[in-house]
Amino acid sequence: TDEPLVVFTPSGKRGRFPVGTPILTAARQLGVDLDSVCGGRGICSKCQITPSFGEFPKHGVTVQEGALSEWNKVEQRYKDKRGLIDGRRLGCQATVQGDIVIDVPPESQVHRQVVRKRAEARDITMNPSTRLFYVEVEEPDMHKPTGDIERLIEALETQWDLKGVKTDLHILHVLQPALRKGGWKATVAVHLGDANHPPKIMHIWPGYYEGSVYGLAVDLGSTTIAAHLCDLHTGEVVASSGIMNPQIRFGEDLMSRVSYSMMNKGGDQEMTRAVREGMNALFTQIAAEAGIDKALIVDAVFVCNPVMHHLFLGIDPFELGQAPFALATSNALALRASELDLNIHPAARVYLLPCIAGHVGADAAAVALSEAPDKSEDLVLVVDVGTNAEILLGNKEKVLACSSPTGPAFEGAQISSGQRAAPGAIERVEINPETKEPRFRVIGSDVWSDEEGFAESIATTGITGICGSGIIEAIAEMRLAGVLDASGLIGSAEQTGSARCIQDGRTNAYMLWDGSAEGGPTITVTNPDIRAIQMAKAALYSGARLLMDKFGVDKVDRVVLAGAFGAHISAKHAMVLGMIPDCVLDKVTSAGNAAGTGARIALLNTEARGEIEETVRRIEKIETAVEPRFQEHFVNASAIPNSAEPFPILET
Ligand code: FES
Repeated sequence: TDEPLVVFTPSGKRGRFPVGTPILTAARQLGVDLDSVCGGRGICSKCQITPSFGEFPKHGVTVQEGALSEWNKVEQRYKDKRGLIDGRRLGCQATVQGDIVIDVPPESQVHRQVVRKRAEARDITMNPSTRLFYVEVEEPDMHKPTGDIERLIEALETQWDLKGVKTDLHILHVLQPALRKGGWKATVAVHLGDANHPPKIMHIWPGYYEGSVYGLAVDLGSTTIAAHLCDLHTGEVVASSGIMNPQIRFGEDLMSRVSYSMMNKGGDQEMTRAVREGMNALFTQIAAEAGIDKALIVDAVFVCNPVMHHLFLGIDPFELGQAPFALATSNALALRASELDLNIHPAARVYLLPCIAGHVGADAAAVALSEAPDKSEDLVLVVDVGTNAEILLGNKEKVLACSSPTGPAFEGAQISSGQRAAPGAIERVEINPETKEPRFRVIGSDVWSDEEGFAESIATTGITGICGSGIIEAIAEMRLAGVLDASGLIGSAEQTGSARCIQDGRTNAYMLWDGSAEGGPTITVTNPDIRAIQMAKAALYSGARLLMDKFGVDKVDRVVLAGAFGAHISAKHAMVLGMIPDCVLDKVTSAGNAAGTGARIALLNTEARGEIEETVRRIEKIETAVEPRFQEHFVNASAIPNSAEPFPILET
């Protein structure tokens, strides 16, 4: 035919259209992802495109000047009032006049990519639960006795092809003034619904609403609750904030909270109230930080371990405290915020990722969503290190999961000078193998202890203890410097030739810092400290090793360390201790808060929710407690690095 050819980049989609067809219409017909909130009325500017002119041998097109219509009044008015980037046009106004190549910039795509910084991480494709639609509603008329909401719903259907849209009473409260104020034009936020819920009107604004709606990605940990507030249109994180989990007053760790609820009637309800109140305080804080109204938060995704999951939902965690650790439900849950007493938009939705097993929670599912071992070509071991290590091993073929009771030693608990990672904590340690003298770095200062300016740099924080990453480096460095043997015993001053090795009861300790002259603490690494770390790292390693057995392999291609702690430990030191299997060092990467990222993916892309539910169904769960080989691996892994297995890569 003679109709002009329209080629869209980057999608490469192409088709012929009659002269005069708006670019937005052509895009829609070809299924090209081009955004629009105003439905082509020249108001929202979400449909911006960049036409290209000249020769395009690759596409077999030559684009002449005049292949796109002149600026029309609507477009010109928009440009004069609001401005447009040079070369940009409004796709709903510019029409086809000849063969043309049209580029859709990322910000004009509904399903734009939110790029993640790590090379091996998957990007997030936007596909949010809730979107904004601008509509023109028919005015009421004495001859047609329909209600305003019925005419609004009809407008959504005819102008946006949204079928079966429902509403709640709270919309009826504000509907009539909004429609009249906007001159029968309005912007509506519609939750697009899911398998169990029809699309629903969440919010209405008179006329065209410039702003956005928001969602929360919440990582509900036993120690801290961290939330990201995300713009549901751009995917951007507009504010992040965290608080201590207020349940800490009922018990530091999970099991003590489970026992609190067993020992105290109504204890579980007290903890449910505490965590929900904390959450509401956090949401108020984060909305204030972003300068938005809390009622604009229309969606929230939560990830947490099974005990937190149950307590947040108001389910007694009793069964999780004893074998066989049965969950009330392992499925993903789609609820309303009001059911959980959350003070955000009154009809906001809440989504909880599925749990993998009684010990492997929705947080591990979120890590799986973020790190996608099920999509990996090579065999990847993902460990989320906390008081319980959650371990995933797999590739495209299959994924196995288990959890291993590492205990709180990695977080600095059970360590004589241990503390949480906070200013004043020693976080990095090096020991000179010749002199056996240490140097270290303290959180809050970026100067090593043997460098100039150290005293001033720690003047405010002081040296208060050693955190999880610090103790790991200290012990690994002690082993490398030869003050510690493979079984975990510290040599005496005579054996090591170092006055830093001091007698400590019937064993020896290594003096890292003597602050007694300044009235500060003395920081030593003691034999019980080393035992605690040996137990924790043996638990971690044997969990990983057990999964390797089940997979039928004796090495992995890469290791991903997830969790806040994973972000701070050095791969080399972790391997010197035998925490993780032998692996090429630069194949050991840190994923930061992968559980939080998984929550963000599920928030911004509703399809990812179905995807992770499917993946979790396919993940094979291994229960370490009933596996005899776990014990065997544990005993071997108590040595540094291991009494039975070689670490050939480490040794070279
Ligand atoms: Fe809104 Fe073009 S679609 S300005």
